[in-house]
Amino acid sequence: MDQTLTILGLESSCDDTAAAVVRVGADGATVLSSVVHGQTALHQDFGGVVPEIAARAHAEKLDSSVAGAMCEAEVGFGDLDAVAVTAGPGLIGGVLSGVMCAKGIAAGTGLPLIGVNHLAGHALTPRLTDGATYPYLMLLVSGGHCQFLIVRGPEDFSRLGGTIDDAPGEAFDKVARLLGLPQPGGPAVEREAAQGDAKRFKLPRPLLDRPQCDMSFSGLKTSVLRIRDALVVEKGGLTRQDRADLCAGFQASVVDVLAEKTRRAMRLYMDEQPTKPVIAVAGGVAANKAIRGALETVSTDFGAAFLAPPLWLCTDNAAMIAYAGAERFALGHRDGMDLMARPRWPLDQNSPAMLGSGKKGAKA
Ligand code: KG4
Ligand code: ZN
Repeated sequence: MDQTLTILGLESSCDDTAAAVVRVGADGATVLSSVVHGQTALHQDFGGVVPEIAARAHAEKLDSSVAGAMCEAEVGFGDLDAVAVTAGPGLIGGVLSGVMCAKGIAAGTGLPLIGVNHLAGHALTPRLTDGATYPYLMLLVSGGHCQFLIVRGPEDFSRLGGTIDDAPGEAFDKVARLLGLPQPGGPAVEREAAQGDAKRFKLPRPLLDRPQCDMSFSGLKTSVLRIRDALVVEKGGLTRQDRADLCAGFQASVVDVLAEKTRRAMRLYMDEQPTKPVIAVAGGVAANKAIRGALETVSTDFGAAFLAPPLWLCTDNAAMIAYAGAERFALGHRDGMDLMARPRWPLDQNSPAMLGSGKKGAKA
């Protein structure tokens, strides 16, 4: 980027209230501050994110998050070039809280306002962290999202496929609940799986028999439920080993599906970018060592570079929103006071809408 931009970003589309200040210039991008207030404790008794509770908590925490991010970055409003805010997709009450806060800041300070697509924030993170050049292949895998994207520019995405029901993180969380393991389920299932035999139970590899890159994880979770119930009928309960073997079998299935679908996505992407291909991941599920390892193997097989941003920038945060806002700003994009909060906002306007919407909101 020719000019140096200092952008304040706000994120409140799900269950994290976040604010960050990012500086982008010719030498790349620097995260000057990143404040994230998670809401896990507020929702844990309900088995999922409660939109009304989330929206109220965002409204309460946004002001102090902004103040914290500005203080940590040691900047005042006069040092900023713009305020960027997640304007969708997500839980509408939370998105509205963020958009209203950003509008207030813009109105009070005269700063330009930029609405950012939350998924674009994730998808552009490899540029923030590693200076990835367009076009690259992105696999977004979290509790709320699962899709393959060719990222060609800040506003130019092609979705090659995604989940038609649950996101992988959602499936990990549900399997953990079925087996009496703590939330978030991903790390708990991964820990158990390390002690288990992945071959003991036969679990499906959903949608591998169908061409292209769409995925499904809901039936896999139901298979775990059936095996659990059969074991309970047979033996009156689950042993520690039963649980570990089920976790290992489930995780192996997710690994196989993600690896094979990534191979297919790579083939499509490499038709367009045969030299110096890059595959990047984002989202909390990318923390899983077996999944990360399988994706690294796929990228090695294709001679591609593998980029996995650090976890604090993989999971929901506002630095990615500030960065995506900077790229839009540099393109000349500005929003007015009529900026809308959008519960659904597909990155790729040309692909048909994905089916299904997870506990954390719309998936595409
Ligand atoms: O990106 P993220 O923090 O939030 C959103 O979903 O937006 O991702 C959280 C998800 C949870 O479902 C969590 O269980 C999953 O990522 N996760 C994992 C692991 N660590 C977190 N899934 C599998 N293995 C892990 N080690
Ligand atoms: Zn997200």
